[in-house]
Amino acid sequence: MRGLDLLVVFFCLAEAKGVPAEQRRKVVQSFSVHRNASSDTTPLQVGNGNFAFGADITGLQTFKPFAIMNTWGWHNFSLPTTPGQTSVQDYTGLEWWTHGRLVSYEQPNPAQNDISNWLRENPHRLNLANVGLHFGGSQVVESDLKEKSQELDMWSGKITSSSKFNGSRIDVQTWADSKSDTVAVQVLSSLLKRGRLGLFLDFPYPDKEKFNAPFVGHFNLASKHKTILEKLSPHSAQIKHTLDDATYYTRVQWEGSEATITGPLSGTHRYILTPKTSSKIQLVISFSPTPNSPKKKTTYHQITTASRTYWRNYWTKGAFIDLTSVKSDPRALELQRRIIQSQYLTVVNSASDYPPQESGLVNNGWHGKFHLEMNLWHTLPFARWNHFDLFHRSLSHLYTQLLPSSLTRAKKQGYAGARWGKMTDPLTGRSSPGEINSLLIWQQPHPMFFAETDYLSHPNPSTLQKWDIILTETANFMADFAWHNTTTGVYDLGPPIYPVSENTNPNITLNPTFELAYWRFGLDTAIKWKSRLNQSSPAFWSVVRDGLAPLPIVNDTYATYEGIPNMWLSEETTFDHPAQAGIFGLLPPSPQLNMTIVKNTADRIRETWRLEESYGWDFAMLAMNSLRLGDVEQAVEYLLHPIFAFDNAGYAVGGERVPTPYFPNNAGLLVAVGMIASGWKGEEGVKLPEQWVREGAAVEGFVIAL
Ligand SMILES: *[C@@H]1O[C@H](CO)[C@@H](O)[C@H](O)[C@H]1NC(C)=O
Ligand SMILES: *[C@@H]1O[C@H](CO)[C@@H](O)[C@H](O)[C@H]1NC(C)=O
Ligand SMILES: *[C@@H]1O[C@H](CO)[C@@H](O)[C@H](O)[C@H]1NC(C)=O
Ligand SMILES: *[C@@H]1O[C@H](CO)[C@@H](O)[C@H](O)[C@H]1NC(C)=O
Ligand SMILES: *[C@@H]1O[C@H](CO)[C@@H](O)[C@H](O)[C@H]1NC(C)=O
Ligand SMILES: *[C@@H]1O[C@H](CO)[C@@H](O)[C@H](O)[C@H]1NC(C)=O
Ligand SMILES: *[C@@H]1O[C@H](CO)[C@@H](O)[C@H](O)[C@H]1NC(C)=O
Ligand SMILES: *[C@@H]1O[C@H](CO)[C@@H](O)[C@H](O)[C@H]1NC(C)=O
Repeated sequence: MRGLDLLVVFFCLAEAKGVPAEQRRKVVQSFSVHRNASSDTTPLQVGNGNFAFGADITGLQTFKPFAIMNTWGWHNFSLPTTPGQTSVQDYTGLEWWTHGRLVSYEQPNPAQNDISNWLRENPHRLNLANVGLHFGGSQVVESDLKEKSQELDMWSGKITSSSKFNGSRIDVQTWADSKSDTVAVQVLSSLLKRGRLGLFLDFPYPDKEKFNAPFVGHFNLASKHKTILEKLSPHSAQIKHTLDDATYYTRVQWEGSEATITGPLSGTHRYILTPKTSSKIQLVISFSPTPNSPKKKTTYHQITTASRTYWRNYWTKGAFIDLTSVKSDPRALELQRRIIQSQYLTVVNSASDYPPQESGLVNNGWHGKFHLEMNLWHTLPFARWNHFDLFHRSLSHLYTQLLPSSLTRAKKQGYAGARWGKMTDPLTGRSSPGEINSLLIWQQPHPMFFAETDYLSHPNPSTLQKWDIILTETANFMADFAWHNTTTGVYDLGPPIYPVSENTNPNITLNPTFELAYWRFGLDTAIKWKSRLNQSSPAFWSVVRDGLAPLPIVNDTYATYEGIPNMWLSEETTFDHPAQAGIFGLLPPSPQLNMTIVKNTADRIRETWRLEESYGWDFAMLAMNSLRLGDVEQAVEYLLHPIFAFDNAGYAVGGERVPTPYFPNNAGLLVAVGMIASGWKGEEGVKLPEQWVREGAAVEGFVIAL
């Protein structure tokens, strides 16, 4: 057994009584989601991180066109035809003055609006299809269904939906495969046999908007795309969907009843499956980028078994926290609800082969692309909660895949090493044109954070080898990017840069507190890494690490950046992400920090920050700051702050500035709770409120924070 595994087990034995599988099941199922009407903003979902199916109150997409989305389904609109802007190669970006020289940034070029916009909007993620109940020709609306009820059982990954139509019951079960892009649906109703109920499949054409929430795609643009139905066997058919250069196949297979599939209905891409012989039908619907073999057969039973097995393993193998015995403090139960539902939702939406979008697989935010800086939040829970298979799903290849384009980006800008982009997609690795996209820098040290997290639990040569080239090129850029200011004798970050809070003027933003602390952590980790490999590190890494500008201080608090006008005194300096709290919380302790000032800063944020305009993960960051400062009470308060809201299925509410759901909040909650449950390197142990521990709160299997 390796050292850290021992450490994890040690805590289970020493600090908590553990949570046996049967108790875990009870806790998980006590938070099953119940609905009796479709939500206007969120579906209930089944899925596996690379594929998810969003259901309305019928367990399908009968009344609300929630999405079916996945990792590989992407689309491009056709390129602009404007002369000089007809290809990706025509795009030049913009040059900005950077320490006395012009540097090229991937920003929208006003002289090249069309290609700049095209690059931002493409590729975008597809909503693959909609599947719903078909009531013959009659126009049926949600209120026509009576006695509606629905339950999501997170222990098995099953949605059960029931209702009555015209006096007859309709019972639907919805499941997803744990590994493939497959949904399994069972419908029971006497209406089926009587020819009064069938199912439809419909195919949308994508939107151009940045946010496609709550729904993705248009079902009324039939002439822009094509579908072709092909019968594969008496019990299966596939529909080939072609949208410009994108093509994929939807395979439908049925058992339990004979059925016919016809369509499309005129002027649409809607197909109708009509069962004929039974009041029960089981469908297996799968999506693939390549045509299906007629011989392929996957049964409904296989999918439901895979789902049950997957989720049981997930809930029993990873870390667990059980606060349900705490009766004196109602906050414990609400926190527990958020925890369980967030655990389910982060697997369904974020445990992907690529970083997820902030809206997961529910709808499209930023055209379905992902943001490398947010991926720290999305991925970290899987390490802290001891689900390293999910942690490695994207990290095993993400940075290697993005390395060539990131080396090219740095070189073009005159820097050594690899400069990681911000907003990108798995197909192109391009940085989407944007001022913030091109000037944000806090994604840069993330590889060090991930590598160090990996090494903490897997301290072996293969971990060292795996991350070495990535860390080397990341550090080469970081050291070269820091600007040696001969007047002050220190290494400066920026300008131009955007700090974590994307609300400053990039041309005057100099030495932001969080980025300076993170640069130090990153370079320090890179140096340690080489020494673990018994190699020497380039001298300039240490020169820069040790010579970085001091963290900027205003009136005994850490400022957003050096020289910021009116820190704390103006509405303009007290909103957006309070990242200075992240230097002692999200980031591990460092001897560079003045703890008096850290404490003053935390107090000042609590007193003056306009948290109502915060993106919710700020609350997780502030909670970790409070926790490291020894104030678990304040940490719990932050995690239950009214702005840090979760709907009745656990989806994080976006708030004023982003649509719902916003999954960094779900992930942030889990990261903070992981720290409460197990502490951090040098201060290991349960940090729950003492009263909760006295009342029997239990934790098991967590991995400590850095
Ligand atoms: C539907 O659910 C809401 C909220 O949970 C509840 O207040 C209401 O009573 C339910 N309605 C029915 C008809 O069950
Ligand atoms: C979209 O275009 C990019 C090149 O810009 C290409 O790499 C990608 O494969 C295209 N995707 C689709 C689905 O056509
Ligand atoms: C920053 O400076 C560049 C020139 O280097 C200029 O084009 C840009 O408009 C400036 N931006 C702001 C916000 O001042
Ligand atoms: C409801 O059921 C009755 C009798 O079973 C039938 O005549 C009627 O058409 C049904 N209504 C709808 C909307 O299906
Ligand atoms: C050097 O640092 C000082 C103090 O932060 C700053 O005012 C000045 O602009 C910097 N010089 C350059 C060339 O960036
Ligand atoms: C580094 O050297 C030490 C001492 O010789 C050795 O035990 C260790 O295995 C080496 N580590 C690697 C990664 O080669
Ligand atoms: C700093 O403290 C002084 C004296 O209390 C006060 O006048 C000033 O407004 C404070 N500045 C900030 C940025 O808080
Ligand atoms: C930390 O900051 C406080 C407040 O400014 C100051 O009094 C103290 O000397 C500082 N401590 C160190 C070690 O610099």
